[in-house]
This record gives sequence, structure tokens and C-alpha cells, in this order.
Amino acid sequence: MQKFEQFLLEHLPISQSFHPHYEAALQEMLKAGGKRFRPALLLGVVKAYNPLMLQSANYAAYAIELLHTYSLIHDDLPAMDNSPLRRGKPTLHVIYDEVTAILVGDALNTYAFEVLSNAPFSDYTRVKLIQELAYNGGLNGMVLGQAIDCHFENQPLSVEDIKFLHTNKTAKLIAASLKMGAIIVGKEDLAKELYDFGIELGVLFQIQDDILDVTQSSQEAGKLTNNDEDKNSFVTILGLEKSLEEANALASKLLAQLQTFETQLQEELSPLLVKYINRHKG
Ligand code: IPE
Ligand code: IPE
Ligand code: MG
Ligand code: MG
Ligand code: MG
Repeated sequence: MQKFEQFLLEHLPISQSFHPHYEAALQEMLKAGGKRFRPALLLGVVKAYNPLMLQSANYAAYAIELLHTYSLIHDDLPAMDNSPLRRGKPTLHVIYDEVTAILVGDALNTYAFEVLSNAPFSDYTRVKLIQELAYNGGLNGMVLGQAIDCHFENQPLSVEDIKFLHTNKTAKLIAASLKMGAIIVGKEDLAKELYDFGIELGVLFQIQDDILDVTQSSQEAGKLTNNDEDKNSFVTILGLEKSLEEANALASKLLAQLQTFETQLQEELSPLLVKYINRHKG
């Protein structure tokens, strides 16, 4: 991941103009860090099957991180979750203003596809990767999830509907990260298997995020916690105990499934996956 961080710093969005803070704002949240979970998933799959492609795969890993970072910047806006803290830093609408946060989100979203279009792969692979990122991050993926999340504030949904919400707002981008790794190494069967695994992993990731919202301080999380009371979070609807049970059940299922992966994939992904699959057990 050190090489990924280096790649990111070498490909930060650049805009030279007389605007006083546009360029700094574009870079702020990318440089602030974060878990880089999605890039690590994609790069893990590539490393397992074709380590020689790792440097090129950084383009795709970075594209996902750019789209994810845009989603966080917009998620924190006053019109959405109204949050003052992200990745341990004040949010862009707090440092600058709301217009800047909206436009930086827009810019990172489109820059993600510019980066992907410059990736040194065949045209076929590039189009496949662009399709995956657009589909899973877009109108029938992350954006749909965010629309449901915000529209149904203070209107309790069924558990089934919350799973649909979590699948869209969070799981599809996580599933796409694994699948894009498989596309890069040319393993289309594996792409499907990993996508299905990634959907469940992503639902678990969001249930854990809901749990951590009530169990971690803002300082520990680097973002505002105890902020989900109006939301259809797992904890708001089911309570902490039941959410932990649900997370444990999904975690056991995913750990068992991990054992069925080919040896080199297991070896590459296990340290990362075991850590994240168990992260609610803290
Ligand atoms: C936060 O994602 C938003 C969710 C989908 C739960 P992460 O927890 O991966 O955020 P960063 O990238 O580490 O900041
Ligand atoms: C956001 O979910 C998911 C995104 C698509 C950004 P949350 O609103 O729970 O994420 P956090 O807790 O603010 O990171
Ligand atoms: Mg939100
Ligand atoms: Mg939020
Ligand atoms: Mg949350």
C-alpha cells in the first residue's frame, strides 16, 4: 500500500488557476488518508494472480478511491449528513464553504474516470473497468443508496429494505473493488464469484460502520459519531445487540467462504479480510 500512497501523491488532481483555494480543496481529503480498504481489495486480487500488473492496477485502485472520497465529501454536506469531521480533519464545507465541497465532489467523481481512462490496459479491459465503476458507484449503486438513506430519514424501513440500502450505498463499490481486480488479471469467472462475496462483505462493512457509530468516539473514528439517530442504520432499527449478532453471523459465513478461495488468493487477502471481517469485535 506504500506504493499506492506514492501513486496517489503523484497523481493528485491539479488545477492551476487564480482561484484562491480550489486546488488545495481538491487534494485535502485525499491526502487526509482513510483506510484505503477498497484499493487494498483490488490490489490484493491483482497481487495474488499477477504481481507484475500491480503498478498499472494502481490506476484502477486510485479511481475507486477518488469516487469513494467524492461520496464521503457529499455525504458530509449539510443537506446530507451534516458532518463537520472526516478522516480526522474538518470537512470541506467547514474549512471553505458548501459550494467548494459540492464542486470538489463533482471534480473527484469525473477525475476518477479520467484516471481510469489513462490506465495502461487494453481498450477492452479499460472499458470493462469504467463500466464497473460507473455502474456500482452510480445511479443504480452508491448514489441510489444515498438517495434512499437521505429520503427515508425518520421513516423506519424493514430489515430487508435496509439490506437493500446498505447493498447500494456501500456494498456495490466494495464488491466492484474485488471484481475490478479480477478483470485486470483476466479472470472473468473469479470476477463473478468475488462480486457476490464482496456484496456480503460490503453489507457487513456498513453494519459495522453503524455499530461503530454508537460505540466509538468521534476522535477514534475520525468522523462525527452518534449521528445516525434519524437514519435507517442497523443499530437504530434492530438495536446494538441484534446488530452485533447479525454482524457475527455474516462474519462467520464470510470467513468460511474465504477458505474456499484458491490458495494464492487466500494468502493475499486473508490478513486484510480477517482484520476487517472482525472489526466490530474490537
Ligand atoms: C465510510 O467508508 C463510508 C462507508 C461506506 C461506511 P470508510 O470507512 O472506508 O471511510 P475511509 O475511506 O476510511 O475514510
Ligand atoms: C455513507 O454511509 C456511505 C457513503 C456512500 C458515503 P455513512 O453516512 O454511514 O458513512 P459515514 O459514517 O458518514 O462515514
Ligand atoms: Mg450517510
Ligand atoms: Mg455519513
Ligand atoms: Mg456511518
